[in-house]
Amino acid sequence: MTLENSQPIIIAKGLTRIYPLGDSEVIGIKNVDLEIGAGEIVVIKGRSGSGKSTLLSLLAGLDRATQGDLVVADYDLNHSNDTDLTYFRREIVGMVFQSFNLLPTLNVLENACLPALLAGKSLLQSQRKAIDLLDWLGLKARLTHLPAQLSGGEMQRTAIARALINDPAIILADEPTGNLDSRNGKMVIKLLAELNRKWGRTVMIATHSNLADSLATIRIGLKDGVITEIKNA
Ligand SMILES: Nc1ncnc2c1ncn2[C@@H]1O[C@H](COP(=O)(O)OP(=O)(O)O)[C@@H](O)[C@H]1O
Ligand SMILES: [Mg+2]
Repeated sequence: MTLENSQPIIIAKGLTRIYPLGDSEVIGIKNVDLEIGAGEIVVIKGRSGSGKSTLLSLLAGLDRATQGDLVVADYDLNHSNDTDLTYFRREIVGMVFQSFNLLPTLNVLENACLPALLAGKSLLQSQRKAIDLLDWLGLKARLTHLPAQLSGGEMQRTAIARALINDPAIILADEPTGNLDSRNGKMVIKLLAELNRKWGRTVMIATHSNLADSLATIRIGLKDGVITEIKNA
């Protein structure tokens, strides 16, 4: 993925996800149109229930749309087969969650290495890469700690290392500061912005906090599953 590539890295047209609920249905997102160029920092704002997680799950290939088109990094996600989707989820996008989602029985280094091992990389190569990332994230002294022995900020930085281990073109962060105090929240947002600046990664952050506002290059407002504004900073 290069920044010179003028083709948008995310193209959504009429993207809709409806959840069936008994005899009725709930709108996740409705008729979302988006074109995002590579290298942007996109901040998605909206209240709880506005559709932020639904949109990020679709972009991450974790869920399928009910209707509409979605092409991310040239992958047509609504028409991909399982093999392509697995590759896409593992190598093209990196995901960071509010609840960190670390494996409790694996230490920091092992958690960070896991997606690289699943992608078939050697243990040595995976560990080298993970140690470089964990060093950059200020976790060099924590490599053999288990998640339960870490602070929230350290857990989220471990999750960022894991998200970056396969060099994804896009980082999707769903309320990444939701379980952090403001100091650690600021640090996590700063790191997400830095990996955008340093390596040109496209970063999308869904949040209802204001921590990322000043760093956004594009700001998207969501309400009741519908985009209410898209603003270039
Ligand atoms: N798995 C699901 N089943 C049914 N409804 C869902 C599901 N996930 C989300 N929703 C509904 O979709 C809407 C958008 O939710 P969500 O994308 O989680 O919003 P946000 O992340 O902004 O809080 C909400 O009304 C929510 O209740
Ligand atoms: Mg959410």
